Amino acid sequence: MKELSLNILDIAQNSVTARSTLIRIDLEETNETLRITVSDNGCGMSKEMVENVTSPFTTSRTTRKVGLGIPLFMMAAEQTGGNLTITSKSEKDYPDDHGTVTSALFYKNHLDFTPLGDIINTIVTLIQGMGEIDLIFTHKSDTLDVLLDTREIRETLGGDIPLSVPDVLVWITEFLKEKYNIS
Ligand SMILES: Nc1ncnc2c1ncn2[C@@H]1O[C@H](COP(=O)(O)OP(=O)(O)O)[C@@H](O)[C@H]1O
Ligand SMILES: [Mg+2]
Repeated sequence: MKELSLNILDIAQNSVTARSTLIRIDLEETNETLRITVSDNGCGMSKEMVENVTSPFTTSRTTRKVGLGIPLFMMAAEQTGGNLTITSKSEKDYPDDHGTVTSALFYKNHLDFTPLGDIINTIVTLIQGMGEIDLIFTHKSDTLDVLLDTREIRETLGGDIPLSVPDVLVWITEFLKEKYNIS
């Protein structure tokens, strides 16, 4: 994939499929590194599934499509000298405290580092398709301190207005642009 934000979209989609009600996307940058962490409170995975899921030949889908979201994200991280880790608690084993954390470390100065790309558009696209699911998004570096919490936006909007209406999506886009100092 040409932009890491597309990988993020794909990994967050796994959290949606896992019936999460809250998803977190955290980006942390230093001069040399970028860490991307996607956390959810979805159905989780068994230990065996976690072990197998980093292989391109594993997917729980019944269709013949081979699951590649995680292997591609992992490859993008490893080709910079970084890594990807998944920790997960399955709903079966942890009925009150289940979910998955997928975290990837990238070395930004490596020749094979893929740029983050249009993260604002990615976050807005994700929110547009998430329905009732909430998202916390953070992006921190020396010069950035971005925080978006859709629970707060819902509270401000009141109960009846979905986040997917165009006016709200435009507002979220402008809010993020301001946080990134883009005018
Ligand atoms: N956050 C998650 N929660 C629960 N299961 C997950 C999560 N992420 C991945 N999985 C499991 O790992 C499989 C492989 O994911 P992925 O590599 O993105 O391929 P795909 O989504 O196309 O199946 C998924 O089908 C799902 O069973
Ligand atoms: Mg996927």
